Amino acid sequence: MEKTLAVLEGDGIGPEIVREAVKVLKAVGHKYGHRFVLNYAPFGAGAYFAQGSPFPEKTREICDASDIIIKGPVGLAVEQMNLIPPEQRPEIGAILPLRKRYDTFANFRPVRLPRNLAHFSPLKAQVIGDGIDILMIRELVGGIYFGAKIEGSATGMRYSTDECTYTADEIQRVAEVAFEEAKRRSCPLINIHKANVLATSRFWKEVVEDIARSYPDVPYRSLLVDNAAYQLVKNPALLNGVMLLENMQGDILTDQAGGIIGSLGLMPSACIGPEKSYVEPAHGSAPDIAGKNIANPYSMIGSIALMFDRCLGLTDEADEIWNALFAVFERGYVTADLAQDVHERTEIITTEAFGDMVVQHILKSS
Ligand code: NAI
Ligand code: MG
Repeated sequence: MEKTLAVLEGDGIGPEIVREAVKVLKAVGHKYGHRFVLNYAPFGAGAYFAQGSPFPEKTREICDASDIIIKGPVGLAVEQMNLIPPEQRPEIGAILPLRKRYDTFANFRPVRLPRNLAHFSPLKAQVIGDGIDILMIRELVGGIYFGAKIEGSATGMRYSTDECTYTADEIQRVAEVAFEEAKRRSCPLINIHKANVLATSRFWKEVVEDIARSYPDVPYRSLLVDNAAYQLVKNPALLNGVMLLENMQGDILTDQAGGIIGSLGLMPSACIGPEKSYVEPAHGSAPDIAGKNIANPYSMIGSIALMFDRCLGLTDEADEIWNALFAVFERGYVTADLAQDVHERTEIITTEAFGDMVVQHILKSS
């Protein structure tokens, strides 16, 4: 297979973890006979400072001409972000327009922690039990993040409003993706909402429950988002399955999930659109650890595995990457973020060494 990929390295730890992910991509391509043409393009805060736009026209063209986009995290520390006008900051000026441009409505965020790696979690091993295996599917192009943002003043009092709208179509299409996935995995679908308070959430629940009727074989449960936040910490196994979340609730709970399995560096993701998709880690640019060769590249390398599986339908290639990632951990090697609870068999390695080990495992295994 031959594919053209746009590569947006992004800011902070972006270039460091994308470098490792590209190494892994090339190793898999070499082993399975795929050819990837990589076109690098600036995106994010660095692009703004260099070219005056966080999503320059040339980058748009490179993305348009690619089959899939590989995106590193974007953004800088607060002081530097304050130098950028709000509408040009990476989230508003680059990420949301990227999502909108390709209508990448379904965001797959797997949350996996096998029992033998329970020590990565800040929770007790007995809470992790037989392991965590949740696929969070987050709606990515609707809701409050895309609604009108209004600031004004009335009778001398300043106010601001963020509008939140969901249409039936927007809910239906992501719900169908989530039910199909739950069917494929033979697992329950857990619908997250705040229907006791929000009109959009009540509507979300109603539309999802209509779709549930077409999937009688998929066990369906719904859970208020605050209770879901509680259960994630108290009894995560209760949530093993596919969790369906609207945009903002999904943003928040997926970061919490990263904390529960030990690090945001364990959170890859794929953003699927009707025609074009892109992959990115679920976290930000981690300016606190950028440039030190200590970031965990699992999230970016796992995003390449998701690309093979979700975007190209190549499950053997995806499994090869997952197996290699877990093999590194099973041999006792971790990056610094996972080393709070170092036990005698753990050795801390760099971002680069982690990528090299994944590549070696792929090239060695038959
Ligand atoms: P963050 O997600 O970058 O970092 C939160 C914490 O997790 C930090 O302590 C960081 O060191 C750690 N962390 C994240 N990824 C890691 C990895 N791969 N390995 C090891 N540790 C890791 O969130 P923060 O600091 O609030 O945001 C930093 C910048 O990223 C901001 O400018 C923000 O706007 C932007 N951002 C961008 C996103 C994107 O590109 N999709 C998503 C979220 C935030
Ligand atoms: Mg987020």
